[in-house]
Amino acid sequence: MKKVFVKPNLTLFDLSSNEPLFSPKEVLEGLLESEKRLSSKFFYDQVGSDLFQKITELPEYYLTNSEIEILHNNLEEISDLVGENAAVIEFGSGPPLKSRMLMKAIKPSLYLPLDISKSYLLEASKRLAREFSWLQIRAICVDYTRAFQLPFDPEKKRVGCFLGSSLGNFNKSKALDFLIRTKKFLGHGGELLLGVDMKKSAEILDLAYNDSEGITARFNLNILDHINQLCAARFDPANFVHLAGYDENLGCVQMHLVSEVDQKISVLDTEISFSKGEKIHTEDSYKYSCKEIEGLALQAGFSKSVSWFDNKKYFGLFYFS
Ligand code: AVJ
Repeated sequence: MKKVFVKPNLTLFDLSSNEPLFSPKEVLEGLLESEKRLSSKFFYDQVGSDLFQKITELPEYYLTNSEIEILHNNLEEISDLVGENAAVIEFGSGPPLKSRMLMKAIKPSLYLPLDISKSYLLEASKRLAREFSWLQIRAICVDYTRAFQLPFDPEKKRVGCFLGSSLGNFNKSKALDFLIRTKKFLGHGGELLLGVDMKKSAEILDLAYNDSEGITARFNLNILDHINQLCAARFDPANFVHLAGYDENLGCVQMHLVSEVDQKISVLDTEISFSKGEKIHTEDSYKYSCKEIEGLALQAGFSKSVSWFDNKKYFGLFYFS
């Protein structure tokens, strides 16, 4: 673990020096399966994180604005639930606006943003540290989809924030595993603020993942540039196209990259063949009903829940304790 004092109120803990965040072996394993796949965590290099930020500002991608609307309308109640003197742990240091709103309202005694992208995490944390000089920030670079431990004990009530519907990237059984692990991690009295994208019509969801400016397509294709850098691979993004759509039976938006030609690509000295039309699965984005998400939280050991919605009921914010 590396520890860097960045500013008087900001320390960076880099857990990635224990265990690499992105393993080239993992890339190859996914590409060697009969249904090729790449974990969606590979989206988030610096370019990918910036593109995701752009996505959150798109009119079609209602998720972020709906969640901001909910936060805006319910900040007082949320900060009452969190209480004073809490350690707020944010999984994924998402769009800065949301973190700012939360910090301003909650005024926690400690803020711990967790993110897999060190440069993105550092930039976002520096900005926050500058704006809120009273706020103690300990930023932690870590892959929170795996089990991990904090490099120190904050000795305060732990409140997790997992916003933006990122839980949707896990399938239902992985989502339950994550919630169980998080419940343990938050410890006795720990609470969780969870943002969830609700089930809705395929038309709205298809638009949200196929924006007219093609930013989501660029975001999807950027995974190949990231893989090229990580694995000395030679994907040509021009030979793939973006595909995304809502599968009503699964309750999930799936994203793929489709090979436009027959091609062979070397990845870590292994040759991977693609036939024309063959797909790489890059992301699942599961959508929930209230009953489903509350059931999952109950199974994970949370017993009480409060929920809020935007006026269209597109997005839900849940507080589990
Ligand atoms: C960050 C995982 C919540 O699933 O909606 C946005 C990522 N993918 N557009 C989502 C994403 C395509 C996003 N999450």
